[in-house]
Amino acid sequence: MIEEPLLENLRIRSSEKWRRFSDEILPLPVAEMDFNIAPEIKAKLHSMVENSDTGYLGPVPELGLAFANFAADRWNWKVDPNLIRIASDVGSAIVEISRVLIPTGSEILINTPIYQNFANWIREVGCKPVELAMIESIDGNSRSFQLDFDGIERAYKSGVKAHFICNPHNPIGRVFTKSELEKIANLAHQYQVLIISDEIHGPLTYRNSGAGSFHPFLSISDEARSIGIAITSASKAWNLAGLKCAQFLSQSEEINEKLKSLPDAVHFRASLFGAISAVTAFNHSRDWLDQVIKILEAKSLFLYELLKAEIPDAYLYRPEFGFLGWIDLRALSLGDDPGKRYLTEAKVAFNSGHTYGDVGKGFVRLNFGTSDAIIEEAVARMKKVSKV
Ligand SMILES: Cc1ncc(COP(=O)(O)O)c(C=O)c1O
Repeated sequence: MIEEPLLENLRIRSSEKWRRFSDEILPLPVAEMDFNIAPEIKAKLHSMVENSDTGYLGPVPELGLAFANFAADRWNWKVDPNLIRIASDVGSAIVEISRVLIPTGSEILINTPIYQNFANWIREVGCKPVELAMIESIDGNSRSFQLDFDGIERAYKSGVKAHFICNPHNPIGRVFTKSELEKIANLAHQYQVLIISDEIHGPLTYRNSGAGSFHPFLSISDEARSIGIAITSASKAWNLAGLKCAQFLSQSEEINEKLKSLPDAVHFRASLFGAISAVTAFNHSRDWLDQVIKILEAKSLFLYELLKAEIPDAYLYRPEFGFLGWIDLRALSLGDDPGKRYLTEAKVAFNSGHTYGDVGKGFVRLNFGTSDAIIEEAVARMKKVSKV
């Protein structure tokens, strides 16, 4: 049973979420959850510490096997365990892969609003991010974002070398459908654009959302497998970001040949705690994950209803996975950076929308992977500013 976290216990955590602000600020940025981690992972880590098993990371074939079994059981995606590679985190995997596969100076497409580090990673490898805004669609009272396929084809035609996709997409909360991913795969195959698919939030897809199910990009088609690389991690779904371990793989012989030139250090810079915890997560903490998914889905609804009742001019796009809420505050006239006003005037911290691309001006991203009490307090604080 996963319990509601208590603020006094959270305040003594040493992670960035709980260190960045003083105690008067209620922190809801940073994509980590406030729940206690899965008991199986806790027990594994305890036993490693008891045994002083705190050395370097060597070969961990059991991680490839654990992920392959998880992917087959959850998503019906057949993966050769031997193809799974390890990096310290998703960010470093994407940077290292880009160094090997994408010429410096290339343009790389991203669909905005998007997790802010996509643009940072692209700049880190000397390339240029090309922002393409997603298109908002409105269906009755429900709003969501769609990919701009005409814009994607134009960008591919104009010579972008790669397209970084966020599947599922942080911050807008969408899990792409099979047909959307098929369209990307077909276009990318036609124009020979490399697709780097960040799938870190995939395991947190809600069971009852309109999305139905998460589709790993490489599971889509031969075309997808010929031009794609998937990067994932247990770090979001099981809340292990500080343990530093991610996985990535290609199912293309040609890409795998090129990936052979990655330095060995990409593997051993990951941590032993992270790798062994990921094995435990994929093999033994699936019930815990199912509980978390249910809790998050209920919390997303709780937040949606709360905002509708308390701040009707704020709009939360209905999340289909995870613990991140993308909120449109433009109708409240709080300016381009409402996050700054909430922080200074109401002592509640969110991620400012404009950091996810220009189209995020007037939005915030809120992390609802916490207690109902903290969510209520955050909305109460928001309300103070909204009233002005
Ligand atoms: C889409 C996405 N990718 C990557 C990351 C960061 O992952 P890592 O810490 O493994 O680099 C995050 C964290 O919020 C994320 O939301």
